[in-house]
Amino acid sequence: MFRRLSDRKESSVSFTFNGVPTMASQDDSVAAALLAAGHCSTRRTPVSGAARGPYCMMGVCFECLVKIDGRPNRQACLTTVVEGMRVETQNGAAMPGQEE
Ligand code: FES
Repeated sequence: MFRRLSDRKESSVSFTFNGVPTMASQDDSVAAALLAAGHCSTRRTPVSGAARGPYCMMGVCFECLVKIDGRPNRQACLTTVVEGMRVETQNGAAMPGQEE
């Protein structure tokens, strides 16, 4: 469903998703990198626990919330992936001050 254009020649960046080493292209958003790696779910809803993932890819829907380097409620579609970044799924929405 989600694939990269074959003519793109970019350097790679490595990060972890839930502790698993994952590769991205330089300048990918975290959401694009996760979708390209086959991860369609990035969080669970606080009410039902249903899986959610990036939808609008432009900062509007907030379905892409993840924890990045210990900080919750980061919009994966608006965050550029960087070498060594730690990305984790998030359950619901974190309250202010609920950071590592
Ligand atoms: S995918 Fe909609 S806000 Fe990130």
